[in-house]
Amino acid sequence: MSQIDFDKTLSAGLGAYNRTVGQWWVDQTRNKAHVAAYKNIASHVARCAQKKSGLLIDYGCGPGLIMKQLVEVLPGWNFLGIDGSKVMLSEAETWVGAKRKKRQATIEFRCAKLPDFSAPAAQADVIVFTFPNIVSVPSERRQFEKRFPKDRDLARLLARKQEKGEKAEELFDQLLMSRVVSRNLRTLLRKGGLCVRVDYSQAERHELGRFDLLSTLFEEGSLNTKQAHLRPQKFFKLRSSQYYPSAVILDVYEQTKDIDFLEGGYLVSVLEAI
Ligand SMILES: C[S@@+](CC[C@H](N)C(=O)[O-])C[C@H]1O[C@@H](n2cnc3c(N)ncnc32)[C@H](O)[C@@H]1O
Repeated sequence: MSQIDFDKTLSAGLGAYNRTVGQWWVDQTRNKAHVAAYKNIASHVARCAQKKSGLLIDYGCGPGLIMKQLVEVLPGWNFLGIDGSKVMLSEAETWVGAKRKKRQATIEFRCAKLPDFSAPAAQADVIVFTFPNIVSVPSERRQFEKRFPKDRDLARLLARKQEKGEKAEELFDQLLMSRVVSRNLRTLLRKGGLCVRVDYSQAERHELGRFDLLSTLFEEGSLNTKQAHLRPQKFFKLRSSQYYPSAVILDVYEQTKDIDFLEGGYLVSVLEAI
């Protein structure tokens, strides 16, 4: 069990992934549960990439282990991994050299803070977003509140319905940032492109409680039912969703020390950009 104080370390910002949290994550990705999950996720993604060639982006790619599996299966595809941690990207460089020599299509990595709305829009055919933990600091969140006021109002409404006081503020930040990240995913995809999201979960979608389901749909951009007087913009259509029980849920337990996360797994959702 890790001794890292995740709340404190991550509240300082993305730099955590260049230090203790980054090393912890690299160790996690090597355990049996993660190795099996990456293999399974890669097979989902390969089914989504139906053309001979295209652009696949791994958003918040970390050591790029999904790409590592897919470059063999999709020889004609260009791959771009984006991550804000130099340590993560140098891990990715340990496997990529040998693979590049064997193919003509590109495998590139970009070091960038996410969400990044300055990246070229509507280029990707498929985006992969696995085990998200996009870190932000308060000043960044306040900028996104100003930029996306409708998302801000809805995130606040949902958070206040569910929690009170400080907990409502924490939930608001989480809902807002996840929603803004989904907007960024949509911006990077061409219309009709597919986003394969992999989120920690404790149940199939239809088994989620009312609020968990509502917040999931809001965060991923597939909700369009009115909440009070506010109608969210829908920018993704949910195509499929599959739950896999897995010990990867222990990543969440280690970070939160909440015993509810001793059991669970992950949800693979395929969303179409509309
Ligand atoms: C939990 S890891 C998941 C990595 C990868 N998707 C995987 O499944 O192995 C979260 C990743 O997001 C990256 N990350 C977190 N916040 C970020 C931000 N604001 N900008 C860019 N990258 C970020 C971290 O560096 C880390 O590689």
